[in-house]
Amino acid sequence: MDIYNLLLKNRSYRRFDETYRISKKELVDIVSYSRLAPSAANLQPLKFYIVFEKDLCDELFPNTFWAGYLGDLGRPTEGERPTAYIVICIDKDIIESPIWDVGIMAQTLMLASVEEGFGGCILGSFIKEKFINILNLPDNLEPNLVLALGKPIEDIQIVDVIDNNIKYYRDASKKHYVPKRKISDTIINY
Ligand SMILES: Cc1cc2nc3c(=O)[nH]c(=O)nc-3n(C[C@H](O)[C@H](O)[C@H](O)COP(=O)(O)O)c2cc1C
Repeated sequence: MDIYNLLLKNRSYRRFDETYRISKKELVDIVSYSRLAPSAANLQPLKFYIVFEKDLCDELFPNTFWAGYLGDLGRPTEGERPTAYIVICIDKDIIESPIWDVGIMAQTLMLASVEEGFGGCILGSFIKEKFINILNLPDNLEPNLVLALGKPIEDIQIVDVIDNNIKYYRDASKKHYVPKRKISDTIINY
């Protein structure tokens, strides 16, 4: 896929076909793209916990928070939940947080997941302590961002921000709309 269409397709998906379960191999294939990401001072301080087992997905899900602007409606319902997670952790033995690498890595892996036929949502809102306990992470590994993945079933459209309202919304058919600021409003010296 060309870069424009890959970026266009790489929306934040929050509804999935839960009958399609992402396999361990598919997750490893996605994480393999991480080696292509840049890293400040080339420290490569990020480690990944891949979750594909249904019982583990079910255990992690209640500790994740979705689409705050939509209230309860933004939370994936049963049958539409992610079937895999990639938990991006900072290895504190390599570097203390905060670090720049995490967001770049999250987007790299989201693009990779779209290229591999999936999609998902970056989650910054999750209960870190629960993730640490459930995944039995050692002290040096601190989860920073979670990628929730699956086979998306959502129709998402980008629209212009109007009156500075950046809140995404859905219509009656659950189509999701994401307002983006106009380029003329983002280039300072346009
Ligand atoms: C660092 C980061 C953290 C995010 N955390 C959450 C989250 O916890 N829950 C959620 O539903 N969406 C989360 N999102 C998704 C944003 O809401 C989404 O990117 C935004 O609405 C724009 O939609 P788009 O990704 O389709 O362009 C996060 C996005 C980023 C970049």
